[in-house]
Amino acid sequence: DRQKHIRNFSIVAHIDHGKSTLADRILELTDTISKREMQDQVLDSMDLERERGITIKLNAVELHYQAKDGETYIFHLIDTPGHVDFTYEVSRSLAACEGAVLVVDAAQGVEAQTLANVYLAIDDDLEIVPVINKIDLPSAEPEKVRQEIEDDIGIEADDAVLASAKAGIGIEELLEQIVHKVPAPTGDIEAPLKALVFDSIYDDYRGVVLSVRIHEGIVRPGDRIRLMNSGSEYDVTEVGVNSPKPIARDYLMAGDVGYITASIKDIQDTRVGDTVTNAARPAEKALAGYREMNPMVYAGIYPTDNAKFTDLREALEKLKLNDAALEFEAESSQALGFGFRCGFLGLLHMDVIQERLEREFNLELITTAPSVTYHVLMTDGTEKDVENPAEMPEASSIKEIHEPYVKAQIMVPNDYVGAVMELAQRKRGQFDTMDYLDSNRVNVIYHIPLSEIIFDFFDKLKSNTRGYASLDYEIDGYRASDLVKIDILLNGDKVDALSFIAHRDFAAARGREIASKLKTIIPRQNFEIPVQATIGAKVIARTNIKAYRKDVTAHLYGGDRTRRMKLLEKQKVGKKRMKAVGRVEIPQEAFMAVLKTD
Ligand code: GTP
Repeated sequence: DRQKHIRNFSIVAHIDHGKSTLADRILELTDTISKREMQDQVLDSMDLERERGITIKLNAVELHYQAKDGETYIFHLIDTPGHVDFTYEVSRSLAACEGAVLVVDAAQGVEAQTLANVYLAIDDDLEIVPVINKIDLPSAEPEKVRQEIEDDIGIEADDAVLASAKAGIGIEELLEQIVHKVPAPTGDIEAPLKALVFDSIYDDYRGVVLSVRIHEGIVRPGDRIRLMNSGSEYDVTEVGVNSPKPIARDYLMAGDVGYITASIKDIQDTRVGDTVTNAARPAEKALAGYREMNPMVYAGIYPTDNAKFTDLREALEKLKLNDAALEFEAESSQALGFGFRCGFLGLLHMDVIQERLEREFNLELITTAPSVTYHVLMTDGTEKDVENPAEMPEASSIKEIHEPYVKAQIMVPNDYVGAVMELAQRKRGQFDTMDYLDSNRVNVIYHIPLSEIIFDFFDKLKSNTRGYASLDYEIDGYRASDLVKIDILLNGDKVDALSFIAHRDFAAARGREIASKLKTIIPRQNFEIPVQATIGAKVIARTNIKAYRKDVTAHLYGGDRTRRMKLLEKQKVGKKRMKAVGRVEIPQEAFMAVLKTD
């Protein structure tokens, strides 16, 4: 009977359409959290999420809603991220639900990730509850957006909830619709335990905390559980729900969403997507897990202090626990020493990981420019995957280089189609199709090299369309390209961490651009530093960083000591995140210089 009163749902949306704000209002209205405790976007518990105003990790909360039919319902709300880098997290949370609330901004309408995310939900057979949010905005056009939902997505939107998460309008109606439209979970309570692990975090005191959706059976403290894929067994110490703080319960049963702790210390044992069963009475078959996500971009992460290498490894292991898409492998660089080549889903993901490493683990890091994985066919018939530009083999031994392409779907108002096509063309895109969604909006599809997408495609797209275009993309295989490796020499020494790959047609221009950018980024030192860009033995660009005239502190000698200390102190701060390569001090921005081109 309890099961009939459970509703498990996620909220999906395009970024910034108000998902987290809506979740906050729902928590408030159900008294899950008091006004006093209410902090904006409480579900975004990471500091980083709050600062950037984006959701990165999914979160599951239990709340209780007294409906108009007089019954009390148990809601499990699973918040999901909206950014394209984190689609993976969205599909994970959807697997734990029967319904999805689809939030569409009343002023922006349906956008690329609205489509991408709602299709994930439709593929999982979830019941969709559409909400048109931000109706308080003067520019809101709810009727038009209702039509868009029907035409573009192809779902009923007649009774879409008109809401303002900001002003608290429409929240109760939404909760009623969730009660009536989203089916209660099914699943035999008597059957052997089957629970899907959709997330896990490491807690210093409790060990690994598994976030689970129980599909069948029941789990209690004291039970011996087995993780079906890894085979490892543990005794359950606690089960419970987040509301949003953890609250221990006597049991979790089929239909519930909650957590399990079992003094699991070994991070390796707990893979997201695994099935938890009862060791004494195991289920026959594991639940379908998640599709493996392959990283799309790679970058080197190095501690500025080489002694911190082991700390960095431990930190990466902990982050990987609840971020299955993160990959890393030890590597070394002549310039940067020992570090890791890390794989990410995209640039935002990379940024987030770097920032979490620095904040949560107190590490000071240098990150190299991201690169995609190239497939290299060698003249001797062998093949190689190259994730680090510095490791691209000699040109003479290469037959062909293949690079990853994405199928990019760009939704844009008519007026900006020209601008989008011009940009896609410039980024080596190949036109596929163009569809009119309605009289004013177009869906343009291009095949574009992933390396161009990760550079600055999205920023350029936004600025060339005054923010109107939205983008979604998926990997679409490899194609041969005429690519070359460009090396950078500082003071005559090749700096491996600055090497990059570019299309031959753009190589000379990129080389010049980067040489002159490095000239502005690398601080002057007390000797002149030649900067060169080369392809093989050929120099394609050169410039010089002029020497200092004289020692900045020289005239302070013997004089005011505190002033001198202050000056040195200031220089020390300025030196943060610098790496000495040979005799040259290189700041972090230099390694990112290849990313920012015009
Ligand atoms: P991600 O978590 O990054 O995917 O974004 P989100 O969809 O959760 O959006 P979020 O809730 O962070 O809201 C984005 C912005 O829209 C914030 O500045 C909110 O204050 C604002 N916003 C949300 N709901 C409303 C609304 O109903 N009306 C108005 N005017 N603004 C809103």
